[in-house]
Amino acid sequence: MFDDVAERYDLTNTVLSFGQDRHWRTATRAALDLKPGERVLDLAAGTGVSTVELGRSGAWVVATDFSTGMLKAGVGRNVPMVAGDAMHLPYADGVFDAATISFGLRNVSDFDAGLREIARVTKPGGRLVVSEFSTPVFGPFRTVYMEYLMKALPRVARAVSSNPDAYVYLAESIRAWPTQEQLAERIAAAGWKNVQWRNLTGGIVALHRATR
Ligand SMILES: C[S@@+](CC[C@H](N)C(=O)[O-])C[C@H]1O[C@@H](n2cnc3c(N)ncnc32)[C@H](O)[C@@H]1O
Repeated sequence: MFDDVAERYDLTNTVLSFGQDRHWRTATRAALDLKPGERVLDLAAGTGVSTVELGRSGAWVVATDFSTGMLKAGVGRNVPMVAGDAMHLPYADGVFDAATISFGLRNVSDFDAGLREIARVTKPGGRLVVSEFSTPVFGPFRTVYMEYLMKALPRVARAVSSNPDAYVYLAESIRAWPTQEQLAERIAAAGWKNVQWRNLTGGIVALHRATR
């Protein structure tokens, strides 16, 4: 599916999120508190747009994704890229100072296994930030947002994306995704400590932070 949306992925994101995606990526970088020279895993990195943002910190960031179509679409970004599955990462234990996954965990078929695997490759004391769509906290806003998600978003995607069906999946997967509290519990159960979260854009996105 991601190979099929790769070509117009970045543009579709920006249109569907009304340009908010840039703000979410900057907030993810800030939450990771990266230092120059640190080794960082950007998992489910897709076209590497998140990797470029993280690299602004001076850290060494490697994009990893199992869709070679997505990686190829971002090859001009000139960031290190490795093809790999989140549930069986091609890295040794404890090699990363920090790891992050933006709008990717929801797509990993066994995301608890993915969270355990990220913990395996992160060194003790290392940081995790999960940036993912979540549940708006204010009831009326949540209602309007759910309407947008289920009705308008697939229609807009039909005009912009190379594979509009993927955006029907996007809407449905967001609706089925755990709330902020539930995701925090799953992260802790996968072996992470000090799990906290912060809502962005009223809870459309949540940043979950944890330490290994
Ligand atoms: C919505 S895109 C997010 C891309 C990028 N992080 C961003 O913020 O734009 C989700 C990505 O998750 C990747 N993905 C899904 N399951 C995966 C898995 N098991 N291992 C590695 N990547 C996976 C897909 O290939 C896709 O590129």
